[in-house]
Amino acid sequence: MAESKASLSIDGIEIGQFPILKGTAGTDVIDIRTLGSYGYFTYDPGFLSTASCESSITFIDGDKGILQHRGYAIDDLAKKADYLEVCYILLNGDAPTQSEYDEFKAIITNHTMVHEKLAHFFQGFLPDAHPMAMVCGVVGAMSSFYHSDLDITDPAQRKRSAHRLIAKMPTIAAMAYKYSVGQPFVYPRNDLSYAENFLHMMFSVPAEEYKVNPIIASAMDRIFTLHADHEQNASTSTVRLAGSSGANPYACIAAGVASLWGPAHGGANEACLTMLEEIGTLDRVDEFVAKAKDKSDPFRLMGFGHRVYKNFDPRATVMRETCHKVLKELGINDPLLDVAMALEKVALEDPYFIEKKLYPNVDFYSGIILKAIGIPTSMFTVIFAMSRTVGWISHWDEMLSQPGQKIGRPRQKYTGKIDREFVPLNKR
Ligand code: CMC
Repeated sequence: MAESKASLSIDGIEIGQFPILKGTAGTDVIDIRTLGSYGYFTYDPGFLSTASCESSITFIDGDKGILQHRGYAIDDLAKKADYLEVCYILLNGDAPTQSEYDEFKAIITNHTMVHEKLAHFFQGFLPDAHPMAMVCGVVGAMSSFYHSDLDITDPAQRKRSAHRLIAKMPTIAAMAYKYSVGQPFVYPRNDLSYAENFLHMMFSVPAEEYKVNPIIASAMDRIFTLHADHEQNASTSTVRLAGSSGANPYACIAAGVASLWGPAHGGANEACLTMLEEIGTLDRVDEFVAKAKDKSDPFRLMGFGHRVYKNFDPRATVMRETCHKVLKELGINDPLLDVAMALEKVALEDPYFIEKKLYPNVDFYSGIILKAIGIPTSMFTVIFAMSRTVGWISHWDEMLSQPGQKIGRPRQKYTGKIDREFVPLNKR
């Protein structure tokens, strides 16, 4: 079949034709790479209709509520695989055999310790520094440990960077927490699973052994899986853009951490809990729902809505199940969680939220689970960053493996002043 083309007409006169490219699934894209030569740029702030790259890692159909990693459905992965298996799939493309999985697990386990000098970086932070600020800084600092001998054009060296990041992120995340509560750093333990080890580094103290609750470890692992990758979101696009210049991968991941931090993105889980605390009691839920609907009030229900999912967020469906299971199994009784459940009910039934297709998203439920299992609110986004590191580095690796990869360089619609006469300071 002949290639379909889109033609662009300006005031009824055709100025050019552009190939329509098809992926294996999803929306076709119009290849406008030559548009600039016709004297036009596209204008798409917020990338509402722009595909910035070609990728075979994650597929999302927001209208149908589909999310697949390398072709595997997210709910299947969440229920049948552990996080490290998902990491393997994202990084390598296919589900591992048992021996590939065992080898991968051993590699990750053996890279969990960080250089002792890296621990010193924490001493420069004020004790009340936000853990995301510490993680952003310390991950960036990792570039100084792995830079001069790193050849990012070598696929094996890129893989090694990915393994180091997946392995060390929980250690750095837990160190940020320990520093903020004034407790000594806890070293990783190789006999524990990825999730158990993270909980151990978070909650163990030298004075007392911490016994990992299997319900909590399994909920934690699921949270990691459900945050592992999400196609070209703000932080992943940031990592790709930073990496497109050939920058050090650890510095690129630090850029991803920074981008994730905002409340419209990964910061939503923390913002959601802060909002629940502000609502406080069941009798105030309606008042806050009314505020969210009021056009003249900037307040939004945090943990609701998504740019891509306009039906439901498939991660939220799995997370919701886990959330209700964890609350039941742990027998948690927290008035804040009652507020969350009431909010979920009101928002799901309210015509404003139904019409605008605003459903509870993954961060709504993950925030509630994390709160229920005793993770401090300020660590919520850090846990998101830890889990998403595999996605970021998989995209970075994919980008660098593609031939003809170009530095990312958007254009603009200029709206500033032009051709002004510059008057020297002493004459102004
Ligand atoms: N509460 C109340 N109204 C909302 C909300 C909300 N949470 N989200 C969107 N709206 C309204 C918004 O006012 C707008 O109304 P109108 O059409 O009348 O102007 C309409 O819904 C569309 O909103 P938008 O801002 O144009 O949508 P967007 O696709 O640019 O934004 C979003 C998506 C996730 C940033 C937004 O829904 C939001 O701010 N949600 C709260 C923050 C949040 O939970 N973020 C986590 C996203 S999931 C994790 C991740 O992938 O990072």
